[in-house]
Amino acid sequence: MNLETISNNRQLLHDIRSPLAVLTVLMQELNSVPDEMRDLLSTAVNRINEIINEQQTLIRKTVIPEIVKSVVKEKRYEYKTKPIQIECHIEPEVYLTPVRINVSDFKRILSNLINNSVEAMDGNGNMTVSIFSRTDDPTSQRSDDLDKLTLEHRGVGATAQLISIEITDTGQGIPPEVLPKLMNKGATFGKEKGQGLGLYHAKKCIEGWGGKISICSEEGKGTRVEMVLI
Ligand SMILES: Nc1ncnc2c1ncn2[C@@H]1O[C@H](COP(=O)(O)OP(=O)(O)OP(=O)(O)O)[C@@H](O)[C@H]1O
Ligand SMILES: [Mg+2]
Repeated sequence: MNLETISNNRQLLHDIRSPLAVLTVLMQELNSVPDEMRDLLSTAVNRINEIINEQQTLIRKTVIPEIVKSVVKEKRYEYKTKPIQIECHIEPEVYLTPVRINVSDFKRILSNLINNSVEAMDGNGNMTVSIFSRTDDPTSQRSDDLDKLTLEHRGVGATAQLISIEITDTGQGIPPEVLPKLMNKGATFGKEKGQGLGLYHAKKCIEGWGGKISICSEEGKGTRVEMVLI
């Protein structure tokens, strides 16, 4: 569900509430209406209430630390025979900052990013998953890459609480001419069995949640992938 849809849904739920309240009050005044008809009306009103509750559950935000820790734990186990360190740092504030994700897609994305880093570190290496929360300050340089989305949905001048997830590795890095193509469908480089779907899928999902993903890399030194979620 993209941010626009979520925002429209929220508006819709808000708009339905007042006519529904009127119906609920009127129902109590309908003494002359036969019981059967009152039951029908009551069932219909209850059903609308249920739909509202279901929608609210769908657009609820999620806190991510436990999800990240469980994926990192699985990956450490998967790569336990390789001399690779996977560190994980989570700033305390992140535990209090829910963000828009779909849990199973998010797990898949993180798992692929860790795989990519491990695959780029032929032999030994270090990899770090760091998560911190930050306030989107529209005047700061780093907020440029968040484009207008976050501002648009909160009103100009409003500050937003964002989560940044950085995956850094000491792998082989990425040639500058290849870097802009990596999020295209089927873009795979230097892998025998690569399908080139991991980053493509990541970009699609993250942008659908109103977030951003970016990569910076230096050949021979390593790579940093940053995901920003709102
Ligand atoms: N951390 C990294 N270090 C170096 N190169 C990377 C890194 N992450 C991604 N890449 C490059 O980006 C390409 C695309 O990555 P992506 O995850 O989309 O596909 P893939 O890993 O090739 O295949 P799969 O669909 O199985 O994930 C990789 O083939 C690799 O060349
Ligand atoms: Mg991959």
